[in-house]
Amino acid sequence: MLMDLIRGNGIFAGKSPYNAADVPDQTGRVHLVTGANTGIGFVTAKALAAKHAKVYLACRNTEKGQEAIEKIKKAQADADVVLLKLDLGSLVAVKAAAEEFLSKETRLDVLINSAGVMTPPRGSKTLDGYELTFGTNNIGHHAFTQTLLPLIKKTAASSPPDSVRIVYVSSAAHWNMAPKKLDFEAVKEPNIARLAPAPLYGQSKLVNIQQAKVLARQLKDDGVVVTSLHPGLIASDLYRYMGPFLTVFMSSVELGAVTQLYCATSPNVTLADSGEYYVPWARKFKTQHALAENVEEQQKAWDYLEKEVGDFYSKHAAEPSTTQPAAPAQPAV
Ligand SMILES: NC(=O)c1ccc[n+]([C@@H]2O[C@H](COP(=O)([O-])OP(=O)(O)OC[C@H]3O[C@@H](n4cnc5c(N)ncnc54)[C@H](OP(=O)(O)O)[C@@H]3O)[C@@H](O)[C@H]2O)c1
Repeated sequence: MLMDLIRGNGIFAGKSPYNAADVPDQTGRVHLVTGANTGIGFVTAKALAAKHAKVYLACRNTEKGQEAIEKIKKAQADADVVLLKLDLGSLVAVKAAAEEFLSKETRLDVLINSAGVMTPPRGSKTLDGYELTFGTNNIGHHAFTQTLLPLIKKTAASSPPDSVRIVYVSSAAHWNMAPKKLDFEAVKEPNIARLAPAPLYGQSKLVNIQQAKVLARQLKDDGVVVTSLHPGLIASDLYRYMGPFLTVFMSSVELGAVTQLYCATSPNVTLADSGEYYVPWARKFKTQHALAENVEEQQKAWDYLEKEVGDFYSKHAAEPSTTQPAAPAQPAV
């Protein structure tokens, strides 16, 4: 139990067997990283660009996204990095972002769903009335991934086996913080203040694993490898809502990126690993929450996401995305 806690959280994980330098050449491949203006997402995007991938940095704040692009270009003048405006807190904006990408590219080799929110003030919500953590980490990423899926499948059909991948960045919090029973009523108005921020984060990260597991099953015949992971305890902006935070046990964002770089690019990850969960550094690990492994519960979460996103888009189908309200720069609280 203690060893599981230590390993599952990625504490004392030793030397990483995989690093940015180990990423194979990505020439001709297109990657998309959400939440890439800072933290683990930024380091991931930079490492992929260094290996000659074309990398889309999907960021909600254009200014921050542009700064991230400039930082990468400063380190590598010929980096092929492109900004994609994506606010996961607005389903209209999510669709617009995915459609913009689809209008520009004919392939998507790797999608890394890295953006995330942790423990915002109780009652925080997205533009569409979802609790902010779930609305961003789960609803937004579900809609984004589903809209991009036809292109991902098409890419896999004409690419080497095991090379086309989707990566969900989850967390050890799926175990430490998630409630015993998932509460989908608590993620939508009028109940968004019902659960405290910590269980809401745990639940959201548990559902990230479930999303990856269901999608892995659905895409097995299409040859798309889908994994999820805990990046480690990483000193990043993720702790922004927690005030001054003890970073002494935390690792760098560079190390935080290695497990997702591994899932996204290592030749050791194959279709046989689809659905697996990884922990620091780049190690397959059994998820620790019973609901993460329960196929019925996984499907329940998936069906919830499908219904919510489906209902939203049918309701808003008649309205062109340009006439819909823009998402606020900062989430409503
Ligand atoms: N750091 C850790 O210890 C740790 C541990 C376990 C799991 N994780 C997971 O790792 C992932 C990356 O976290 P991190 O440590 O890199 O955190 P971070 O530095 O705070 O980065 C999070 C990214 O998500 C973006 N984001 C937030 N809301 C968004 C929205 N509505 N639309 C689009 N992008 C949005 C942020 O953009 P802004 O800069 O504009 O806010 C930022 O780019 C998260 O999924 C997190 O849950 C991290």
